[in-house]
Amino acid sequence: MKPVTYRSAKQWLRTICVAAVTLVVLLTAGLLAATQAPPTLKDAFKGSFLVGAALDEAQFTEADARSAALVKAQFNAISPENVLKWEVVHPEPDRYNFGPADSYVAFGEKNHMFILGHTLVWHHQTPAWVFQDDQGHPVDRDTLLKRMRDHIQTVVGRYKGRVNGWDVVNEVLADDGTLRPTPWLTIIGEDYIAKAFEFAHEADPQAQLYFNEFSLENEAKRNGAVALIKKLKAQGVPVTAVGLQGHYRMDWPSLEQLDATIGAFEQLGVKVMITELDLDVLPAATQYSGADISLNLPLQAKLNPYANGLPDSVQTALAKRYADLFGVFLKHRGNLTRVNFWGVDDAQSWLNNWPVVGRTNYPLLFDRNGQPKPAFDAVIQTAASAGK
Ligand code: G3I
Repeated sequence: MKPVTYRSAKQWLRTICVAAVTLVVLLTAGLLAATQAPPTLKDAFKGSFLVGAALDEAQFTEADARSAALVKAQFNAISPENVLKWEVVHPEPDRYNFGPADSYVAFGEKNHMFILGHTLVWHHQTPAWVFQDDQGHPVDRDTLLKRMRDHIQTVVGRYKGRVNGWDVVNEVLADDGTLRPTPWLTIIGEDYIAKAFEFAHEADPQAQLYFNEFSLENEAKRNGAVALIKKLKAQGVPVTAVGLQGHYRMDWPSLEQLDATIGAFEQLGVKVMITELDLDVLPAATQYSGADISLNLPLQAKLNPYANGLPDSVQTALAKRYADLFGVFLKHRGNLTRVNFWGVDDAQSWLNNWPVVGRTNYPLLFDRNGQPKPAFDAVIQTAASAGK
């Protein structure tokens, strides 16, 4: 063996020092890169719940490349804003239009996202022919049930094992918690809801199935929903989760109302999801606080005060309101499994055109240029403070 001389020991020491310095430099660079990576919603809430957004066609076809990139960076769940509604996907008795929905599902699969289907049974955006015979008279119960089953089998069946969860029924309750009077109810009767879930389960036994509704934070409507879900569960109807749409205002619902609502459904043993989150910052055009899309009120300047930009004070209030809402969502993590925004940026939001057409609203976390707003930072900060 060669003796260790003073000279070779010095060389070894130098080599070790150089290696150590290199390691420290590399580690520091890595750490810096990691701390400088822009925060994302999906990472901030990893382990708590999925964070999703409703997409329009330009986003999931990537025709709007900027917005598609933002979706890929920020979200791990997607909803189709319109392309799986009956009038779009099944406009005529013997004609399905699956092109847009196929692109939507392909986008979700390519990006390994949780893919939602919205929606199977709704009173809006359902063509009149569904409820009528050739003479334009209402069809009977059996005919409508058959049409409903065929539609669900065809649509859910096509995406079996690919669409992970479906809004099976949408907005079936009136504000007082009773069943909304729709052709579905009048022609089929109360069991149309159970039937819709059964048909969907038949078509894809693995898919999650949701009861989606707005304004359940109001007590009367919530009580109606609780009674209905209890009944459906007792009958063995496969309801996986209740979707709270989450079309909120700055002053509604209160955090207590929201907390109590999520809690009420948790106690029934169903999961809860926020399915269509946005925050309307504009003056209320009506006393009505729901999301009934048939409302259309005249445009007046006093109802559109932020046409040239959102004042800092409102921007700050919006950020705080979002942070507060996410504080409640985090309290229920585990039972609350997804928070889905209704749109990606402010330009896309339906709230620019409801209940008044042509206003400038600011309901989401990204501005009209796809840039994160202070509300985005506040939501990320809420996750960080909760140890997420
Ligand atoms: O399909 C036509 C298109 O061919 C035409 O070029 C265009 C021009 O006006 O209109 C298109 O249809 C519109 C569609 O959005 C796509 O832009 C409909 O008129 C319009 O009514 C429809 O509005 C959607 C609304 O549901 C009704 O389906 C909104 O984008 C969508 O955000 C909204 O989403 C609903 C949820 O499904 C259920 N919960 C409430 C939520 C907000 O209303």
